[in-house]
Order: sequence, then structure tokens, then C-alpha cells
Amino acid sequence: MRDGPRSQTAAINRSPASTDVKILGISAHYHDSAAAVVVDGVPVCAVQEERLSRRKNDAGFPLAAIDWCLEQTGLDPADLDAVVFYERSMLKFERILTSALRAFPRSWQSFPQAIRNSLGEKVWVRGIISSQLGVPARKILFTKHHAAHAATAFLTAPTRRAAILTADGVGEWATLTVGHGDRRDGRTDLTLLREVRFPHSLGLLYSTFTAYLGFPVNEGEYKVMGLAAYGRPSYVDRVRTLIRRTPDGAFTLDLDYFDHHTTAKRSYSSRFVDLFGPPRHAYDPIDLKTTDGRRFADCAASVQQVLEETLVDIARALRRETSLPDLCLGGGVALNGVVNARILAESGFERVFVPPAPGDAGCALGAALYADRVYFGNPDRDLPDHPFWGPSVDAHDLARAAREDGQAVEELEEPQLIDRIADALASGRIVGWMDGACEFGPRALGHRSILTAPHSSAMRDRLNRDIKYREEFRPFAPVVPAEAADRYFDLPAGGARLARFMSGVFPVRPEWRSQLAAVTHVDGSARVQVLDRDMAPRLYTLLQAYGRRTGLPVLLNTSFNVAGEPIVNRAVEGYLTFRRCGIDALVAGPIVVTKRASSSTTSVTEEVA
Ligand SMILES: [Fe+2]
Repeated sequence: MRDGPRSQTAAINRSPASTDVKILGISAHYHDSAAAVVVDGVPVCAVQEERLSRRKNDAGFPLAAIDWCLEQTGLDPADLDAVVFYERSMLKFERILTSALRAFPRSWQSFPQAIRNSLGEKVWVRGIISSQLGVPARKILFTKHHAAHAATAFLTAPTRRAAILTADGVGEWATLTVGHGDRRDGRTDLTLLREVRFPHSLGLLYSTFTAYLGFPVNEGEYKVMGLAAYGRPSYVDRVRTLIRRTPDGAFTLDLDYFDHHTTAKRSYSSRFVDLFGPPRHAYDPIDLKTTDGRRFADCAASVQQVLEETLVDIARALRRETSLPDLCLGGGVALNGVVNARILAESGFERVFVPPAPGDAGCALGAALYADRVYFGNPDRDLPDHPFWGPSVDAHDLARAAREDGQAVEELEEPQLIDRIADALASGRIVGWMDGACEFGPRALGHRSILTAPHSSAMRDRLNRDIKYREEFRPFAPVVPAEAADRYFDLPAGGARLARFMSGVFPVRPEWRSQLAAVTHVDGSARVQVLDRDMAPRLYTLLQAYGRRTGLPVLLNTSFNVAGEPIVNRAVEGYLTFRRCGIDALVAGPIVVTKRASSSTTSVTEEVA
């Protein structure tokens, strides 16, 4: 692992404006573009471009997200003290150029495309921001990509001193960093000590298997993790030949097996195929009864195990080095809940914090916070500990759309609404649940959710078939009130914190697995959300009401979208999704829209009693 160019460690006061500083953070041009606004050191709003443009994983310059953030805060671009981009474009360009030249002549076909992409967008970010927003160039700042990841992880976590580990595919050059943060005396120190550099990357190792297994890179990694539970790590020794551990606990990839450093067209080489067999084509089903199906599941299990053991070792070394009890994890790799749970269990850290948006979208917020604390040297702030920074749902929009469409619309007092929905859920209905501001990050944590009973595998299959339109091996997640979590889930010390934003996978207690079949993965685990009342009080109340009816205060909670679409944002998108798929009832504010009950649904009260 290289010594890093150390990130700015101490605050540098660059501006006379040290209070009420208004900063717009932007991430764009790779995947999951987003914008966020921080005022006086505190986030005011943040949203991914896909939620507004309705293009999943939208990577374009996030004009709609910026527009919404400015409108939400009542700011004009001229009011902003700074606009911060989440990576240093010239360094990224340097990496693309250097990699292409190193790989010449193998790279000659992809090189023009890479250069065109960079010249078109990435390098000239300052000009794009300046011309699109009318902000003077001197107000446009850049953070390093992993400094933004580290800031997202550390500055949003309820800890004042922590070790920091970030890992993703690649930023400019860094693919993994280790460091520490300290904000005990009102000033912020955020130091990245060392880094692993492209083309050596755990994120790209995992993405290479994602592509090899026929899933889209940057969004199919979830599928690899889901598939891994169905396989045995029988190829683990072969995966280990791809990655050489170094004495300092880091790693290098054996580049003979990869092509990601020479071409954008394919990430694995012919030697990789010689080692693991023919790749899966995207449209071939995965049939675990066939030799190939089992081979693919075993490949997924094997790369998952190598990712876990490598990161656990790096985290363990970081714990020894820093002696700190807390760890903040950032970067796209921190979306892997199995890895996170193993780090918590095995690295020696007592608490592990993963933000709701550890990936690149979250960097919009991290870049803005980094600029506030480090560039402007503004005082430290404790931040609200929730993910709800996006646009709010307008219940009257829902009522209007449903009435115009001739559906049954009711406006209920809160106690009646909770009773009605708890009854519907206990009767086996599927409910679309929209509540307040939407989540920032890829997970529905109680404001844009599809909720249903978690008890039977038939419900899981129905959701996959009729609503999510996705592979049958994809698991669903449960949500449980914090006070009841230990009864149903085997949470280690610190597990509930990791589960606050669904960032850990933990065992379902064996005696409850049959009654939680829709949310228990094939290996007996679940990516549970442990819900504190203060974070989403309405959903918390609903869980309790459901528990009173069924004896089990646990619901299946999956993101409110169908396959290939972003999570719904506005009421109209929730309504259109409700009309197009098998959701039975839809809630926003006091409004309940109900479809005619399906005759196929059955009461689950008896099932769990
Ligand atoms: Fe990243």
C-alpha cells in the first residue's frame, strides 16, 4: 500500500466567511450522479439525479438535482460560497492517459473513446459547472474522490474519532484508502494515510466477476452477493491466484487475468476464462440444477469470500495501527453487508459506521462537508443521523391522480390509517408506502418502501414475479423495531448500529426462520433494518400495530420500484408503479388508495400465530 499523498489534515481557513457558508456538492460522470447542499455546516438536502430524471443510475451532470437543491434551499447560484466536485478531474484524466499508454498497443482501440469521454466531460468540469450555474471559476473546488468517500463516512457518523477505510472500483488513482478522523475539539482532522492504486482494486475484482457472471457492472454487484449464498466457495483458491497479498496487508491484482486497465470493453482476460470457464451471457437463466448454474454460484461465493477475508485483514491491521474502537467505512464496497458484518465481528473494531449512501452518489454530500470542515475550516457539527434528504411526497398529488383515474381514495386520521394498513398487511396485502422526504442512497429505509408480510416464501416469490420482476435468488429484507430486534435476529454488539441503514447481514434466529421465510436468505441470514422510533416514526408505529395483530413485529421492506427503474420519488411515480404491478394499497400522508382486493390473498394472521 502506498503512502498517500496525505489529504489535507488540518483545516485551512480560506475564506472570511466562516459562518453560514453555503456549499453545493456534486458527483457526476461515472455513475449515480447527485447533488447536495450544506449550509452552516449541516446538510439541508441531497438527491440522486436518477430520482428526478427517472433514468436508473443516471451518470449525467445532475442539473435536475442541482435545480431541486437550490429551489429547496431558496438559494441562487450567486449565493453559493463554493461548488465542490467530488473528484479531481485532471488526476482522473492522467490515470486514463497513463493506463492507456502503458497498455499500448493493446489499448489503441479503446483509447480514443476514453479520451473522448474525458475531454467531453470529466476534464472540463470546472467549465461545465461555471457555464451551467453561472458560478465564477474561483468558487469551484475539487476534492479527491476517496477524501469525499471518507468525509461521507466519517463526518455523518455519530463518532468523534474513528479509523476510516474506503474501497471502491476506482476514483482518480486510489481504489482503497486507510486513515483516521478526529473532530474532538471542534476542528476536523481527516487524514488518509495510505492507498492502493489502480489497476489494483477490490471493487474492480468484484466488478470483473459481476461482468463475468452476466450482470451489469455498478448495479449487478448486489446480485453477485445474493447468488454467493447459493454457492460453495469451491473456486476460492483460484480467486486467490488473481490477488497477491503484500506484506503490509494490502494487495495487488495479477493483471494477466484482467483487461480493465487496457480496455473499457471487457474487464477479464482470456486467462481468466481459462481459469473459471465460459462466462454467463446476460440473458441465460441461472439454473442451480445445472452444472453451469452451480459453477456461477460457486464463483460468486468464492469472490465474495476473498473480498471478505481481504477487507477483514486490512481492517484488523488498521485497528492494530490506530487502536481506535470505531471504524467508518465508505466507498461502493461498503454496500456489501456480508463484508461489513464480518469486519464488525472479526476486525476488533467495536463499532462500524456505514453511511446510507457510501457509494459515489454520497460523495456529493461528502465533498460539500469536506469543503466546509477542511477547506473553509468551519467548526465541527453533529449531524442528523438519518438518510431522508430528498424531495417530499405530496399526498394531495396522489389523491388527485387516483381520483382522476377512478380509484378508491380515502383520507384518514393517523390512528385509523395505521389500523387500516396493519390490517391489510396482516391479510397478506402488499402496500406501497410513501412518507415524507425520500432517502439519499440506494436503499429504501422507510420512506419509499413496498411493505408486506415476511412470513412465507410464497410471498417472496410473488414479489419477485409480480412486482420486482427479478431473479428468484434475490432476497428481500426485513425491518424490525430496535427494541424487538434481538428476539428475531442474532445481532452481535454493534450490529444494531450497522443495521440502522441496512448495512449488515446477520443471522435470523433459527427458531424464527420458518416464520420469516420471505426475508431469510438461503443461508439463514437477513439484511435487516433495525428501526429506531426517531428515524421513521410512522413506519415504527405501523410495525408495532402489525406486531399486535400477528405476534411478530417484522415486515418485509423492499425499495418502491420495479426492476430497471429508480426508486419512486413523487406521488405520481408511486401511483403509476402501483397501477402497473401487484401492489394492493398505496399510502402517502393521510391518503390511502386501494385496488380491488385480489381473491388470491390470504390472511397471514393464522400463519404466524
Ligand atoms: Fe467511488
